[in-house]
Parts: sequence; structure tokens; C-alpha cells
Amino acid sequence: MNNNSLSGKIPSELWRIPLLLHLLVDNNNLSGPLPTELAKSPVLKILQADNNNFSGSSIPSTYSNIKTLLKLSLRNCNLQGAIPDLSAISELGYLDLSWNKLTGPIPTNKLAPNITTLDLSHNLLNGTVPLNFSELPNLQLLSVENNHLDGDVPSTIWNDIVLTGNRSLVLDFQNNYLKTIPAAFSPPQNVTVMLYGNPVCGNSSGAPIDSLCQPQSVNQQTSKQQQDSSPICSPCPSDKNYEYNPSSPIPCFCAVPLGVGLRLKSPGITDFNPYEGAFGDSTTSLLKLYVYQLHVEHYTWEVGPRLNMHLKLFPSNTSLFNMSEVVRLRHVLAGWEITLPDIFGPYELLNFTLGSYADEYPNEASSGLSKTAMGGILAGAIAAAFALSAVATVFIMRRRSRHRSRTISKRSLSRFSVKIDGVRCFKFEEMARATNNFDLLAQVGQGGYGKVYRGTLDDGEIVAIKRAHEDSLQGSKEFCTEIELLSRLHHRNLVSLVGYCDEADEQPRPNYLPVLG
Ligand SMILES: *[C@@H]1O[C@H](CO)[C@@H](O)[C@H](O)[C@H]1NC(C)=O
Ligand SMILES: *[C@@H]1O[C@H](CO)[C@@H](O)[C@H](O)[C@H]1NC(C)=O
Ligand SMILES: *[C@@H]1O[C@H](CO)[C@@H](O)[C@H](O)[C@H]1NC(C)=O
Ligand SMILES: *[C@@H]1O[C@H](CO)[C@@H](O)[C@H](O)[C@H]1NC(C)=O
Ligand SMILES: *[C@@H]1O[C@H](CO)[C@@H](O)[C@H](O)[C@H]1NC(C)=O
Ligand SMILES: *[C@@H]1O[C@H](CO)[C@@H](O)[C@H](O)[C@H]1NC(C)=O
Ligand SMILES: *[C@@H]1O[C@H](CO)[C@@H](O)[C@H](O)[C@H]1NC(C)=O
Ligand SMILES: *[C@@H]1O[C@H](CO)[C@@H](O)[C@H](O)[C@H]1NC(C)=O
Ligand SMILES: *[C@@H]1O[C@H](CO)[C@@H](O)[C@H](O)[C@H]1NC(C)=O
Ligand SMILES: *[C@@H]1O[C@H](CO)[C@@H](O)[C@H](O)[C@H]1NC(C)=O
Ligand SMILES: *[C@@H]1O[C@H](CO)[C@@H](O)[C@H](O)[C@H]1NC(C)=O
Ligand SMILES: *[C@@H]1O[C@H](CO)[C@@H](O)[C@H](O)[C@H]1NC(C)=O
Repeated sequence: MNNNSLSGKIPSELWRIPLLLHLLVDNNNLSGPLPTELAKSPVLKILQADNNNFSGSSIPSTYSNIKTLLKLSLRNCNLQGAIPDLSAISELGYLDLSWNKLTGPIPTNKLAPNITTLDLSHNLLNGTVPLNFSELPNLQLLSVENNHLDGDVPSTIWNDIVLTGNRSLVLDFQNNYLKTIPAAFSPPQNVTVMLYGNPVCGNSSGAPIDSLCQPQSVNQQTSKQQQDSSPICSPCPSDKNYEYNPSSPIPCFCAVPLGVGLRLKSPGITDFNPYEGAFGDSTTSLLKLYVYQLHVEHYTWEVGPRLNMHLKLFPSNTSLFNMSEVVRLRHVLAGWEITLPDIFGPYELLNFTLGSYADEYPNEASSGLSKTAMGGILAGAIAAAFALSAVATVFIMRRRSRHRSRTISKRSLSRFSVKIDGVRCFKFEEMARATNNFDLLAQVGQGGYGKVYRGTLDDGEIVAIKRAHEDSLQGSKEFCTEIELLSRLHHRNLVSLVGYCDEADEQPRPNYLPVLG
């Protein structure tokens, strides 16, 4: 439910959801206090509530009882009080409590060995940097920047970390009151220590630390750019989208890939580089492919932090996937049928590019939605209900780009029609009128599927209008299924379906639309 306009408290009853794994409510307008009852949640792995205003409340000490917690992120939440001792959470891998007003010392007990990221920056913490921050073998980032810490610059934090070419560690101590540094201070290569703004820097004692005293920003989150295929290989044939598979066991092998846009919504790492291999191994095994069939073409870190990546899936030792394989891969990915390892967190599929396979792709391939896809639809409906608790109804709109509608008509997909009792079909103009041309002020939420607007119909009825992204995955069949499913859903906590709009061809010209998605 992140990136919506939710206000009020986080309901304490959420812990009763028996399989609540991920609670992502960042970028809302939620207020405090944080519910202590969440500690009773039996399987909670990610609790992320960045960028809310829990003004004045503290982090419940009961959260140290959430034994399953992998990630706790409460950045920029206006929190006060002390940092609870979280050393009892044996799987904790990512802790971000930055940009709050936390006071007192940093708990000295040793955190879980899995911790990759420890961001306590921009608080009011005092005392010293705990010695127990040493010997955390997976640590990638420790930031205590902009606090009131004093004492020694720690010199053992990197002790237990095996720093291969792929691994790096950033230690950001800038703008504290660190006064002294051990005489033999020699962090290994790939360990970046930042000391700017500490008294120790004013003590022009020696050249070695001068270089550490320059102001720096944490620039750990490198992105991977698309690499040119090896210049040794001769160009691939150009009749289809042939490409050279960089991972192919057969050198210079040209094949037609499938494209997959994926976003990790709440990863448990700060630096993807050393995890790229593990990501490839688990993704290919979940997709029942060989490791060399996957190529991570590029990735970028987005605010969140979220990891936006583009993957290419290549056929194994042949030039083309057969169509049943294309159908299978699309079905598995579009149906959210795979669960990545916990460290990568939840993901959303941004696109699935058929490329040269589009012409042959069978229309009826995605017959029926999987349970997980239904789960996604339900989650959408529940999110809409959260955002619009005062509103009684919901609309769905499908949005197609002009390009896509051309492709569809080329493949002679018959215009679909829904005939369900009580579900009305609306014109695009009616939707635009109801939302003041999809005005930003009318927007109440957004998600991977698109945006939700508050609208008023011509007859005065207040509705929620869900408008799909142009490139969202919904095909006719999924859209139809979603409408049928929603029309059958009746629950006091769910908004009910009034109608839909599927006008592709009568859409106004793009420049008349507000910039969306
Ligand atoms: C979520 O909201 C933040 C802050 O408004 C914004 O920077 C970010 O792009 C949004 N992310 C998504 C995926 O919409
Ligand atoms: C956030 O919520 C507070 C009340 O909790 C309200 O006064 C304020 O207008 C809200 N801000 C936005 C941007 O919705
Ligand atoms: C957070 O909420 C408090 C009390 O509602 C308010 O005084 C404060 O200005 C808010 N802070 C931000 C950053 O919105
Ligand atoms: C740390 O700050 C707290 C309150 O913010 C104060 O009570 C305590 O004395 C401070 N400790 C040190 C060592 O300065
Ligand atoms: C952590 O460090 C403190 C001293 O700062 C020590 O007393 C304690 O035993 C250490 N705990 C662990 C688990 O290493
Ligand atoms: C740490 O992470 C690994 C995988 O990254 C996992 O297998 C292990 O169970 C986790 N927990 C501990 C305590 O090491
Ligand atoms: C400078 O370093 C010495 C020891 O090397 C220390 O005693 C002294 O307090 C330091 N002065 C400042 C201003 O940090
Ligand atoms: C780590 O150090 C090696 C040399 O020891 C260097 O080649 C590599 O680029 C460094 N990696 C990072 C991420 O800094
Ligand atoms: C799919 O998403 C990825 C990641 O955002 C992007 O790089 C790629 O251009 C997208 N492809 C299409 C066809 O939209
Ligand atoms: C760096 O990571 C990549 C991908 O995980 C792996 O293939 C490569 O062998 C690693 N290199 C080193 C020097 O560890
Ligand atoms: C693909 O080709 C490589 C190299 O010829 C071979 O080692 C591998 O076993 C082949 N894979 C399959 C699935 O046949
Ligand atoms: C399609 O390709 C997959 C994987 O290469 C193979 O297992 C399957 O038997 C093929 N199916 C047909 C109908 O050729």
C-alpha cells in the first residue's frame, strides 16, 4: 500500500492477518503511534513505513520480538526516543532508521550476522560507535552520518568481511564528534571510510586520513549499464530481433530473447553487485531455465530504494524459444507464480516484451488466472478500499496505447465485451469528466497496475476510478476476468464494482491527457 495518500494510524489489527509477510506503507500520510501489536505477527518479514509522520512516537521495543523480521525501514518518520535493542532478531538483514529524531546511545549488542545495511544517519544519537558493529560478515553500508557520536573512529568493522572484487563496504561517519583515530588505521581497498565533519579531521595529524576527510555522499548504489555485445562476434541476422547472448556457453550465439522489466520493491541489500549471481541462480531455477539463459541487461536504483531491472531470457542453445515455452514463461511471470528469495523482497513485473514472438503468440494462451494473480487483483481492490473508505464504488478502466491497439487489431483480437448484470459500460469522456481530466488532485493512490482517482459521476455518485497503466500487463482476457471477479466480490471492507471503460480507439490524443505513469 505504499505511495498512496493513506492517513490515520496503521491499524493494530493487521497482525491478525495470518500470512502477513510484507507490510509496505511507505510514502503515505500515516500518523502515530506505531502499533506495538504488530510484534505478534507470526511471519512478518518486511516492515517498511518510510516517509510518514508518526510525530513524537517511538519505535516499540516489542519489535525486537518479531523473530522473522528481515527488514525494518522507518526512514523519515519523525520518530523520537531510543533505538530498541534489535539484536534478538536473528534474521535481521536491513535496518534503516535514518532521518528521525532518535536520541540516546546506539545499542551495543551484536546484530544478526545477515545484516547488510545499517542506516542510522540524521538522528540525535550520542555515545560511541559500538565495537559490535565489527564482525558482521555481510555488511555493505553502515551510516551514522549527522549524529552526535563521539569517541574513537572504529578500526575493526571490516575485520570479518571477505572483500572480493565484487564486494565493497561503505562506512559513513560524517558530521559527528569523533575525536581520535588509532595510529595504525588502514582500511583495506573496497572499504570507504568517510570522516568529514569530525574533530579528528581538524587534527592535521597526518596525510593518511586527509583523504578520508573530504565531504562525500554515499554513492554506493551503482547501476549497471547495458554493455555492448562483444565486438569479436559478427553481427546477428536482422530478420528477427536476434541478439548475441553474453552468457551463452556457445560463443557468439545469436538468439531471440524475451524481455522482462522487473522492479524489486523493497530489497534487503544496498549493493546488488555481489548478489547478481545469486539472483540469477534463483530466478533461473524458479523459471526452470539454465543459468546461462538469463542476462541481467541493466539495473538502476530508484528512490525507495527500489531496484529497477531489465532481464533478457534467451533460449537454450537454439535461436528461438518454441511457442509453448514463451507461453509458459509469460504465464509464470505474469501470474506472479514465483517467489524470489527473501533477500530480494517482493517484486512487481513492469513489462514482458514478446518482440519477434508477438506475431505467433496465441490469443487464448493465458486461459484463466492463477491464484496469485487473483491475489494481486484482490490486493488492488483492497488498496482501493483503504484509500476510499468513504466511497462506495469502484471503476476499472483499461488503457491501451495507440501502438498497442494497433498491434491488437493486427492480431485480430475481437473486441471483448462484458455482460454481467449490474455492471455498466462507460465512455471515456464520462471518466474524464468525473475526474476533471484525471486531475492530480483527484488521484488517491497508485500501484503497479496504474492509478486510482476519486471521481464524481454525472448523477452525483462518488466513485473510485482505477486506470491501468498503458504498459500494464492486462490483456483482454485478464481485464475481463478482473471485472467478472470484482463483480462477484461483496464484502463490507471492499468497494463494489459499478462499471468499466474499455474504449481504446476513442481515447483522446495523448497530448490532451495528463502525463501519467
Ligand atoms: C513513490 O513516492 C515517492 C515520493 O513521492 C516517489 O519519489 C517515487 O517515485 C514513488 N515510487 C513509485 C514506484 O511510484
Ligand atoms: C496528512 O494528514 C494530516 C492529518 O493527519 C492532515 O492534516 C494533512 O492535511 C494530510 N496531508 C496530506 C498531504 O494529505
Ligand atoms: C508531523 O505532524 C506534526 C503533528 O501533527 C506536525 O506538527 C509536524 O509539522 C508534521 N511534520 C511534517 C514533516 O509534516
Ligand atoms: C545522550 O543524550 C541523552 C538525551 O538525549 C542524555 O540524557 C544523555 O546524558 C546523553 N549521553 C551522553 C553520554 O552525552
Ligand atoms: C557487545 O559489546 C559489549 C561491549 O560494548 C559487550 O559487553 C557485549 O558482550 C558484546 N555483545 C556481543 C554479543 O558481542
Ligand atoms: C542469513 O541469510 C541466508 C541467506 O542469505 C539464510 O540462508 C540464513 O538462514 C540467514 N540467517 C542466518 C541466521 O544466517
Ligand atoms: C588531536 O589528537 C590527539 C592525539 O593524537 C588528541 O589527544 C587530541 O585530543 C586531538 N585534538 C582534537 C582537537 O581532536
Ligand atoms: C575492489 O577492489 C578491487 C581491487 O582490489 C578493484 O578491482 C575493484 O574495482 C574494487 N571494487 C569496488 C566495488 O570498489
Ligand atoms: C521494460 O522495463 C524495463 C525496466 O524498467 C525497461 O528498461 C524497458 O525499456 C521496458 N521495456 C519496454 C518494452 O517497455
Ligand atoms: C562478481 O559477480 C558476478 C555476478 O555475481 C560473478 O559472475 C563474478 O564471478 C564475480 N566476480 C568476482 C571477482 O567475484
Ligand atoms: C548447450 O551447449 C553447451 C556447449 O556446447 C553444452 O555444454 C550444454 O550442455 C548445452 N546445453 C544443453 C541444455 O544442451
Ligand atoms: C519447447 O522447449 C522446451 C524447452 O526447450 C522443451 O522442454 C519442450 O519440449 C519444447 N516443446 C515443444 C512442443 O517442442
